[in-house]
Amino acid sequence: MDNYDDNSKLLDLLREAMKDERHDYLKYKMMMEAAPSREIADQVRFAHEDEGKHYRMFQKIYKDLTGRTIEIPIPQVEKYENYIDAVKSSINGELEAVELYRDIRSMLNSKKHRDMLFEIITDEQEHATRFVYVFSMLK
Ligand SMILES: [Fe+2]
Ligand SMILES: [Fe+2]
Repeated sequence: MDNYDDNSKLLDLLREAMKDERHDYLKYKMMMEAAPSREIADQVRFAHEDEGKHYRMFQKIYKDLTGRTIEIPIPQVEKYENYIDAVKSSINGELEAVELYRDIRSMLNSKKHRDMLFEIITDEQEHATRFVYVFSMLK
């Protein structure tokens, strides 16, 4: 019973991660299009492309664990008055993703899956750094 409960918690967190990845993928696409400079659009593009990769990596882990391929519907993306507010919420979102993904990593048993989470976590830390850089360009 414990195993079943642990596994269902892990699967819940994987679905949550896939939803967050879809959200960020779309949010960053909108931020690329609304970027006040080419330099900023290029910084956001790195994160946008990684989120697409992360979605597929979480989808693969879910499939390995359950035998099922799932898709998460594209969520709504909130609107921002100012570009800098979108950048600030992105910094916080990236740091929260790191917390969630550390929890997911601790629940995974195989080295392959833990290595995948390590790659995703370091990407999110890089995104946070890029958004801090973008924030400094806007000041
Ligand atoms: Fe991501
Ligand atoms: Fe990210």
